[in-house]
Amino acid sequence: MHRVLHVASEAHPLMKTGGLGDVCGALPSALRALNVDARLLMPAYRDTVAVAGSLKLVSQLTAAPLWQPVNILEGIIPGTDVPVWLVDFPAAFGRPGNPYMNEFGHDWHDNATRFALLCHVAVAIARDEAGLHWQPDILHCHDWQSGLVPALLASVSPRPATVFTIHNLAYQGVFPYETFASLHLPPHLWSLEGLEFHGQVSFIKGGLTFADRLTTVSPTYAREIQTSEFGDGLDGLLRHRATVLRGILNGIDDKTWDPANDALIAAPYSADEPSGKAINKSALQEIFGLPRDDTTPLIGMVGRMVTQKGIDLVIDALPQLLKRPLQLAIIGTGEREFEEALRAAATKHSGRLGLFVGYDERRAHLIEAGADMFLMPSRFEPCGLNQLYSMRYGATPIVHKVGGLADTVIDAQRKTLSNATATGICFKNASAETLVDAVDRALDLFAQPTQWRTLQQAGMRQDFSWRHRAVEYLDLYNELRSGPKPPKPPTRQRSASERKTARNR
Ligand code: ADP
Ligand code: GLC
Repeated sequence: MHRVLHVASEAHPLMKTGGLGDVCGALPSALRALNVDARLLMPAYRDTVAVAGSLKLVSQLTAAPLWQPVNILEGIIPGTDVPVWLVDFPAAFGRPGNPYMNEFGHDWHDNATRFALLCHVAVAIARDEAGLHWQPDILHCHDWQSGLVPALLASVSPRPATVFTIHNLAYQGVFPYETFASLHLPPHLWSLEGLEFHGQVSFIKGGLTFADRLTTVSPTYAREIQTSEFGDGLDGLLRHRATVLRGILNGIDDKTWDPANDALIAAPYSADEPSGKAINKSALQEIFGLPRDDTTPLIGMVGRMVTQKGIDLVIDALPQLLKRPLQLAIIGTGEREFEEALRAAATKHSGRLGLFVGYDERRAHLIEAGADMFLMPSRFEPCGLNQLYSMRYGATPIVHKVGGLADTVIDAQRKTLSNATATGICFKNASAETLVDAVDRALDLFAQPTQWRTLQQAGMRQDFSWRHRAVEYLDLYNELRSGPKPPKPPTRQRSASERKTARNR
């Protein structure tokens, strides 16, 4: 039996700011159903401790970079049988709210130290030095916050195998050189073949360079990130490591996201019994201040208000969109500029555009349940979960054909409509104009009820559950056990396309 420790900065319902939380909350449980002893290590944020239920202090260790006593609390991910260890160090993690930034939207000043601490605790567990009497044979790290783990373990022998999953290459955990020095990282890591990135220290490079296997969350994104257009300055390194990189699509937690059994929506429904969807549409219209009207198409949107998600394209397209007979319901939070522009538009077009700026699970579920269509014009999308939820909830997705959106939504064309395989509307070359054209295509289909129902039903009958996806991770773990570890990457020249574009979530 594999013993796999997942290391992540969020996992639903213990903490969630986006899809990373969804995945890290659901994947370990799906792996346990496949007889993998999967466990999770994450920070004991204040809100995490509040929702975790019963927790037991199981160990105390003194870990770098602060060399102060750190508690390890043990519990389970609520609603699952997955053991979770929480790194309890209140000075780093005992803050309420968002795990990465303060209430003004600025990164916490000590993020490098906070997530270095998480990584050092993971390494201590890997080396059986944390007093937990359990040692993983695989460390599965997620995104930059866990990126130092493969780097720190690379020089340890014997050591567990390491997997690093890229959920979003745009967030890299890049900090000034002084941070590298203050973290007391092994000096040999300060090099182009280590963590150095244009004179700064990059946490994600620790994962990308040193992990035995790299994965990302869709096959198309796995190809895209090897190009300068999507590589965020790391495409050269990713091409260099292409033989150990693969795309595994995300699954969905089909218990949390099940319209037949969702306590957060107004009425249950399913592909076989769809009538409850109309009740949800009506509830959604009410809560978003839109006139109750079953015949006007209602387009929903849920997501971070950042350029990745194409929210600026939606704002640019609004004047044209609102000339059409449709309603819009949008929930999200993100960059102030976009929030403000949408607030102004919602005031101007009240009764046509309903808006909620903030994070709210109930409203997010209700949008999926009540909307006829779901808009996702992302410029890039590693996988995307909302389009999967929207298909399951019969809110036909309208998506830019990139990354995981291209891999999961089948465009409505003559052939796919006639053989009932179409599940949404895809468009290329994201712009306000192409977005409006795509919405027009959706409105045309909506006006043909039989055609629309076929499209909607095809989406609702897809099976995107983790059951299938977790098997692909199991295959990867099996390979790691049987196959030789790939050699340490040879010296590599910086590729011409590497540029400093990094951001930290
Ligand atoms: P990303 O991880 O890039 O933000 P995904 O589509 O993979 O995008 O996942 C987003 C997740 O976060 C979904 O579960 C979505 O419902 C949730 N989400 C995003 N914004 C909000 C919000 N404002 N309120 C509630 N849930 C949200
Ligand atoms: C990231 C990506 C999103 C993906 C999620 C979970 O936040 O932006 O596309 O679905 O991680 O893997």
